[in-house]
Amino acid sequence: MNRTWRGCVFIGTSLDGYIAKPDGDLSWLTAPEPREHAADEGDHPALVWETFFPTVDTLVMGRTTYDTVSGFEEWPFEGKTVIVLSTTLDASGRAQVVRSVDEASDLLARVGAERVYVDGGRTIQSFLSAGLVDEITVSIAPVLLGRGSRLFGDLDHDVLLTLRGHHATAGDGLVRATYDVARR
Ligand SMILES: NC(=O)c1ccc[n+]([C@@H]2O[C@H](COP(=O)([O-])OP(=O)(O)OC[C@H]3O[C@@H](n4cnc5c(N)ncnc54)[C@H](OP(=O)(O)O)[C@@H]3O)[C@@H](O)[C@H]2O)c1
Repeated sequence: MNRTWRGCVFIGTSLDGYIAKPDGDLSWLTAPEPREHAADEGDHPALVWETFFPTVDTLVMGRTTYDTVSGFEEWPFEGKTVIVLSTTLDASGRAQVVRSVDEASDLLARVGAERVYVDGGRTIQSFLSAGLVDEITVSIAPVLLGRGSRLFGDLDHDVLLTLRGHHATAGDGLVRATYDVARR
């Protein structure tokens, strides 16, 4: 069956490839110590939250990311369909729970998803392995964490990317890049 939706990753990572510290701490990304960073606006800027988030209709996230987001004061995904990948979560008021990538894929087709925000390290790795990621935006934070939850994992094939945009921001020192993933 031809896939009708596009899988999109939008994620912050340390330079050494971690998306959270072992205890889940994200302050290195959300509230970094102020430093003087070089900025580069770029002729073809990467996507940022304001240009990315409104374009997605559906989210698929791993249970760990769902646990983190559920702890936020405000639910940030109002108006979007949210699917959680988990073998342990029974049901959730805010999200539909699926047990596998295949189940997620079936549900995405059934709900008529078009642009899907794929979030959470292990979930991104599972979707990449299954060839279900079409676009990746990474915001690389100026820090080495040395340990934590990894963004990427092993792959049994190369994944070719085309650079679509990039820029760096002075306030937070994030180097941002948006890539298209070549479909296999
Ligand atoms: N830096 C950022 O921008 C950013 C963005 C998102 C998240 N985060 C952080 O990253 C951490 C979460 O990352 P994570 O690597 O733990 O990944 P995750 O994908 O959020 O959650 C992993 C869990 O999702 C389920 N899962 C994932 N793939 C599955 C598959 N193929 N089949 C069935 N279930 C699957 C499993 O849940 P069960 O154990 O229930 O089976 C697994 O334990 C959190 O601390 C989160 O706050 C950071």
